[in-house]
Amino acid sequence: MRLHFNEIDSTSVFLKNNVGEFNHGDWVSADYQSAGHGQVGNGWESESGRNVLLSLLMNPNKIPACEGFRITEVVTLGILDALSDFDLRIKWPNDIYAGDGKLCGILIETGILGGHIDKAIVGIGLNVNQTCFESDAPNPVSLAQLSGKEFNVNEMAERVVTMVFERYERGVECHEEYLSHLYRRGEWHEFQRSDGARFEAMIVDVERNGLLAMKLRSGEIVHFEFKSIKYIL
Ligand code: BTN
Repeated sequence: MRLHFNEIDSTSVFLKNNVGEFNHGDWVSADYQSAGHGQVGNGWESESGRNVLLSLLMNPNKIPACEGFRITEVVTLGILDALSDFDLRIKWPNDIYAGDGKLCGILIETGILGGHIDKAIVGIGLNVNQTCFESDAPNPVSLAQLSGKEFNVNEMAERVVTMVFERYERGVECHEEYLSHLYRRGEWHEFQRSDGARFEAMIVDVERNGLLAMKLRSGEIVHFEFKSIKYIL
């Protein structure tokens, strides 16, 4: 089932507040969100009717809470499948990048029951036809900017949801594939810790629990949790 709103505060908030009315595979979309939100309490900018704004519900089958990162892998790779005409990367853990520009933001909120992931609300904001961004987001980019063409937003939303659930239903291990699409993997770059200190490191791996493994110039391998490290772009 799909529910579409012309305007809503946030598709993810709506789905969360009404989750009992929805089943695995259902999704909520909107032309405009008055209070769309991203990770770390940021807002999510989107001109009305110009971009994909949706939240889908997954009721995963027997994914232990400690393996919740599998959902991130399925969702990010499903979106890459939907956008296979473009040369895209996954910026750990779950942004979709074109070059150094952010094309798509994903917010995954999970509920855990009996040690397993009981539900995942997956919010997806994909920049499609917007060409001018006014928020202080550092590096947004859209499909229209990348291609010089406009796209049908509704068809794009359907395609993204179809491809994400196709990935999910396939149920195959996709960790290596996720790694193979990782932005800045295997290259030396500058990063910033949460205390502001900058350092050079190379992304070498992502652990099963989603921690980012990085090699320092000293050869030491260090692990980072989401939000404890920033990429210097
Ligand atoms: C990020 O900060 O990168 C995540 C952005 C997620 C935005 C989407 S838009 C649809 C859904 N509803 C929201 O309020 N947020 C997500």
